[in-house]
Amino acid sequence: MRSSQGRASLAVAFVLALTLAQHVNAQPRPIKVGMITDSAEDDPSVAAESISIIHGAYMAAVDRGYKVNLVTSGLGCDTDNIAKEVERLVKVEKVVAIIGPICSGTTLAAAPTVNALKVPAISPTSGAIAVSTAGPYVYRTLATAESYVNTIMEYLTPKFPTIAMVYDDSLLSRDWTGIAESFHTQHGGSVTYKAMFSVENSTVAQVEELTRKALASKPSLLFFMATSSVNPELETAFIKTARAVDPKFPVVMPNAFDQATKDALEVKGANGTKSYPLVGGIYYAGDKPYAKDTERYKVMFGLKYMPELGRGGSYGSGYDAMSAIIVAAQKAGYSKLKNINKELSSKSFTFPRFGGETGRFNAAGDLAVGAQLQVFNATTGDAEELVVP
Ligand SMILES: *[C@@H]1O[C@H](CO)[C@@H](O)[C@H](O)[C@H]1NC(C)=O
Ligand SMILES: *[C@@H]1O[C@H](CO)[C@@H](O)[C@H](O)[C@H]1NC(C)=O
Ligand SMILES: *[C@@H]1O[C@H](CO)[C@@H](O)[C@H](O)[C@H]1NC(C)=O
Repeated sequence: MRSSQGRASLAVAFVLALTLAQHVNAQPRPIKVGMITDSAEDDPSVAAESISIIHGAYMAAVDRGYKVNLVTSGLGCDTDNIAKEVERLVKVEKVVAIIGPICSGTTLAAAPTVNALKVPAISPTSGAIAVSTAGPYVYRTLATAESYVNTIMEYLTPKFPTIAMVYDDSLLSRDWTGIAESFHTQHGGSVTYKAMFSVENSTVAQVEELTRKALASKPSLLFFMATSSVNPELETAFIKTARAVDPKFPVVMPNAFDQATKDALEVKGANGTKSYPLVGGIYYAGDKPYAKDTERYKVMFGLKYMPELGRGGSYGSGYDAMSAIIVAAQKAGYSKLKNINKELSSKSFTFPRFGGETGRFNAAGDLAVGAQLQVFNATTGDAEELVVP
């Protein structure tokens, strides 16, 4: 008697638990997630980055087996209209979370609205320092500015005690250059020259002049920091000028260069092989590649080539942002999607990342992820890890 009663109540408890679990996880309709990408038609690198982020986000939805309706806005890095666009996504489109914005300045401009509307926004690409303190609803799925810059300066400063710095006036470039300079001077290095140019107005002739002046200051290392919003012609001008003065001179470009810059520097051999002698040896602060990341991307989309493919990063951070949102939505339960941020900000919250690692945000909403010292290969024109013996 007792034992059969026990079995019966156990069965009731089991059915109840199953029903509760189904109730919590039931998903009658897809959840709506907003995404702010950039549609700059004249810049193939920017378009490739946006497509990569969308691909990554869809991969995460497939992997998690969760229905998501992606509402994509091509507003890009427009700081003036971002507040209105966030409001439209939340109030009209009814998104429960946002992936984006792409640019740091836009993420910061969006932050007051994001926090006021209490909708979590996870930027896959904003690298400026202030994003860490942009409020309780702002997150990012890439390494912090310090992580990128300090990783390369730990190697470069002891090797090259004097450094000349040329950088653009974007928030990201000013931040990264400032961190590099602080690290360098605090570790016994000195700065022989420092000049800023304008993303909006600077010309090829101006960048050439700054590069010559930087080299004339007799540094042991040339530092050039440009964001993806810089006209590729200016990056090309920098590399060509530096190499013309001294083809072997040590150069670091912490944020690398656009695909268009690489294309402009391509050299075709007599037998048709391509190489990139001018970018060979340039140091770079790269993302730690995931094991077999590009293989998976190629299999999923059948793409052999895509500018973002070889550079890591964007599809992985797009994946991570969507994966975090989905896991938080599942934990909150379909009927309590307003609790997504509560889940995301919980100390114990974790989610699966693109490469299979466990992702977690720190108290500032930054993903704990490392960067890597990389160097460009003259044959492939791509960056690869610099293994320091
Ligand atoms: C670019 O030039 C325009 C027109 O001369 C000027 O209004 C603007 O402030 C300049 N922008 C920067 C960043 O120097
Ligand atoms: C093509 O030419 C380059 C030199 O221009 C040489 O290094 C390379 O080995 C050649 N490749 C083939 C497949 O012959
Ligand atoms: C550059 O890439 C080529 C082709 O993948 C490789 O054979 C070579 O070892 C690399 N060079 C360096 C310096 O790593």
